[in-house]
Amino acid sequence: MKVNVYFVAEEPVTLDVADHAVVVIDVLRATSSIVEALVNGAEGIYPASSTEEAIKLASSLGREDTVLCGESKGLMIEGFDLGNSPREFTVEQVAGKRLVMTTTNGTRTFLMTGDATRVMACCFMNLEAVAQEVSEVEYLVVVCSGRAGLFSLEDAVCAGALLLRVREKQDEEIEFNDAAMAAMELANAFQVNSDFLASTAAGQRLVEIGFREDLDLCAQIDQHTVVPEMDDRVIRVRLPAVEP
Ligand code: MLT
Repeated sequence: MKVNVYFVAEEPVTLDVADHAVVVIDVLRATSSIVEALVNGAEGIYPASSTEEAIKLASSLGREDTVLCGESKGLMIEGFDLGNSPREFTVEQVAGKRLVMTTTNGTRTFLMTGDATRVMACCFMNLEAVAQEVSEVEYLVVVCSGRAGLFSLEDAVCAGALLLRVREKQDEEIEFNDAAMAAMELANAFQVNSDFLASTAAGQRLVEIGFREDLDLCAQIDQHTVVPEMDDRVIRVRLPAVEP
């Protein structure tokens, strides 16, 4: 098995994901919100790269039946139904609904994974489920969304925590790139809880704008067992393979 971690999501030209299984991480908060929305019954999440694209997509899907959600500078976008707080994605808001989502970094990362064979969403809440899902793949790429092209500690620690678990499940030797090795060291160095998240740059910003409680939720390790997987630009709960 070969594992490459990218600490920052770059343009597709530098993000080498062709024919690999990709795990996208944006702990604060896109992948945490995606997990929470799917757990609470959202039918599917359509990532959009901008507010304009999200509005267009929602109207082509049928605005009446679509929940428009996402953030700009952490806050709900004017005219949208929901922001990007995982606490907003309740059963009442999302069960059975299609969600069109645009966020500053996370949803864009999903849209950079064009050639990948599989694209999954990971955060602390579904760590073990994703670790199980990817432990057998031949070539794994873990992409940390980061913040506007910069390194995010919480994403790197989540990537490392995922890989420590994958390593435990693998008998064969794994070839890790330098970033993967560094991520595992970081995962050993930090204890994940909401204070840890609050100490990161993204966490501090969320506290400043009134989302401290989101950090409590995003820090809940293994709270859920769903593996969100994107297929044809829609993220849904991965269903077990059906026997032929
Ligand atoms: C992002 O995609 O940049 C984040 O999810 C921003 C946020 O915390 O809402």
